[in-house]
Amino acid sequence: MPRVYMDANATTPLLPEVMEAMRPYWMEQFGNASSIHQQGQVARTAVDRARETLAEFFNCREAEVVFNSGGTEGDNTAIFGVLRPGDHFITTSIEHSAVLRATERVAERGIDITLVAPLANGLIDPEAIRRAIRPRTRQTNQTKLISVMLVNNETGVVQPVEEIGKIAAEAGIFFHIDAVQGAGKVALDMRRLGCHLLSISAHKIHGPKGVGALYVRRGTPVEPLLVGGSHERRQRAGTENVPGIVGLGKAVELAMASLEDGTLERVAALRDRLEAGILAIPGTGVNGAGAPRTANTTNIRFEQVEGEALVIALDLKGVAVSGGSACHSGSTEPSHVLMAMGLDKNAARASLRFSLLRTATDADVEHALRVVPQAVEHLRALSPVAAGTAG
Ligand SMILES: Cc1ncc(COP(=O)(O)O)c(C=O)c1O
Repeated sequence: MPRVYMDANATTPLLPEVMEAMRPYWMEQFGNASSIHQQGQVARTAVDRARETLAEFFNCREAEVVFNSGGTEGDNTAIFGVLRPGDHFITTSIEHSAVLRATERVAERGIDITLVAPLANGLIDPEAIRRAIRPRTRQTNQTKLISVMLVNNETGVVQPVEEIGKIAAEAGIFFHIDAVQGAGKVALDMRRLGCHLLSISAHKIHGPKGVGALYVRRGTPVEPLLVGGSHERRQRAGTENVPGIVGLGKAVELAMASLEDGTLERVAALRDRLEAGILAIPGTGVNGAGAPRTANTTNIRFEQVEGEALVIALDLKGVAVSGGSACHSGSTEPSHVLMAMGLDKNAARASLRFSLLRTATDADVEHALRVVPQAVEHLRALSPVAAGTAG
């Protein structure tokens, strides 16, 4: 039985080129990039080269790229590093838990929070962000930071971050973008996005796990999360993960090429075929329909189906998908993203995310379209809801 992986938003495999680029830096070229001797300089050159690639990817200065351990660290650094007690912070109710849990923590430290809800199609309305901005008055704390994700990990909806960036700039507010799901799917240009901070993660773009980068616009006051050595211009202490950084650099280089070589169009065509095939099943609908979405993602509700049961049934038939985000798998809580879009608990629990790899094939979609209708039919036949016996 073929195994088809349709959970690219959870993570992606290394591409062979990434593996090859990283290989020497585990053993032969093992130097510490801070060492003066030759081994150290080889490692330093490799880190510098990766930084050049990221600066090109972001259209920013090399000094504005800070390597770190991934999306969670980037998001945490932006929030903990900028906000101080007495500030007001605006973010959205559909962010990843890396932002939402950090938000809860700063709220406990005396920071006022506004969580902006999405429209029913999953889009954040820039005007809702504008309305949430607070000037400093005797009664209120001034808005210091806005954080909005570029692409939602569950629905693939692409947020209007450029417009939000303009609003933030007019009001003189720092702006952070969680671009973990957007990198490699939407072009990133720091000059156009108008953000001060932007997080990405290597493992979502066929790079290694546990490495990422935070763009920090020159002059943005960010207190480091980790202190110690003077690595990364004192913005992130700790011996550089040289193989990881090299892998991130290579993954970014390949992602840049894939933005321009027709890959996204090919993936979008496969996703559209998959989506149309699944929508032919009665009682199905797309969450986020009508909003701009990334090429690789579709989030589908299956009426009268328990999402977790469908994930397991599909896995047994060789198709890997997820309900909600991977970080919450194992919990029975319905997706906070879908609930924020107005779905009730049952509809949210009955929704699955199909997210295609850049390397997805026609055969992957054909296999999925053979097994999904069967699995749905089977579960509905067993369902007490479908049989009308639910209490
Ligand atoms: C939107 C978003 N932000 C942040 C993260 C966390 O990134 P990492 O796994 O690199 O910590 C993820 C990962 O699922 C994500 O999808």
